[in-house]
Amino acid sequence: MAPAAAKVLLTDLASGIDRVPDNYIRSEADRPNLTEVEASDASSIPLVDLQGLSGPNRDDIIRQIGRACQQDGFFQIKNHGIPEEKVQAIMNIAREFFHLPESERLKNYSDDPTKSTRLSTSFNLKTETVSNWRDFLRLHCYPLEEYMQEWPTNPPSFRKEVGEYCTRVRELVLKLLEAISESLGLEREYISQNLGKHGQHMAMNYYPPCPQPELTYGLPGHTDPNLITILLQDDVPGLQVLRNGKWVAVNPIPNTFIVNIGDQMQVISNDKYKSVLHRAVVNCNTERISIPTFYCPSPEGLIRPAQGLIDHEHPAVYKSFTYEEYYHKFWNRGLRTECCLDMFKIHSA
Ligand code: OGA
Ligand code: NI
Repeated sequence: MAPAAAKVLLTDLASGIDRVPDNYIRSEADRPNLTEVEASDASSIPLVDLQGLSGPNRDDIIRQIGRACQQDGFFQIKNHGIPEEKVQAIMNIAREFFHLPESERLKNYSDDPTKSTRLSTSFNLKTETVSNWRDFLRLHCYPLEEYMQEWPTNPPSFRKEVGEYCTRVRELVLKLLEAISESLGLEREYISQNLGKHGQHMAMNYYPPCPQPELTYGLPGHTDPNLITILLQDDVPGLQVLRNGKWVAVNPIPNTFIVNIGDQMQVISNDKYKSVLHRAVVNCNTERISIPTFYCPSPEGLIRPAQGLIDHEHPAVYKSFTYEEYYHKFWNRGLRTECCLDMFKIHSA
């Protein structure tokens, strides 16, 4: 349970300070260099229109998705089928949650990454040396019935709205997985059938305004350890993606989601599709909320490069492992730019 005394959450610490506390300050070589970040435009992060994915446009959309997964690791989607009201509702719920009194929020607090529902701060307080300018609520959300009773009950409609959103996002992910399987030349069901019983986690990230955003990160550069991430962000910029060695800001477009390939997809695709470095920066004036859905294998799910993508010219790059093994390594090594994937490579002599 929550410690009684010192402020454990950033949200409460951050209000009313005019300097970043020392434990949030990055070394000079490791700062965001905000003036060197490029603005995104339509050509930098592809925007894929999913209208007609199950109809006449299927082949064309699958080609676009395949190209984006291969070249960018990131793309945005519109006409994704999740109603605007549902998206607004979950964003409002997240905002209300982080605006609740501290004592109310702290009922959900834990710094143990193995807990399936928890509010925490930074990334992993037990292993990191520098903190990140972020509070987050993490939830497991598939199978829904197994986890929903752990979720917050304040705001009162939390479980209902978040539950509905998770169900919708899962339907969307399953469609994307079929499209991605096909884009790799695999059976439509291949990816879905190779994730064990499937898993779905969600984070609600809350980045308070920061008096010195040039000194710290909301989240430093990392790749996502899961299979595929569907990110909803509010209208405040902050997400940046590494492209050709430069950080590119992915500025919010209303009614779109950002999709990115995670480490497990890179493994299944035998390195054809890339899990790309990204980060979140903060700003002086405005709080920012993002809500990523991390779709993943279940812990016992056995992950390996698809047999259909291995041949003489493309030997398997990775050994097989369970998602549990991978996830454990990810949380315990801390967020680092070097990708956790390297630890699972087959080292050729
Ligand atoms: C993440 C992440 C980006 C953002 O939570 O893994 O990359 O914009 N978030 O909050
Ligand atoms: Ni991420």
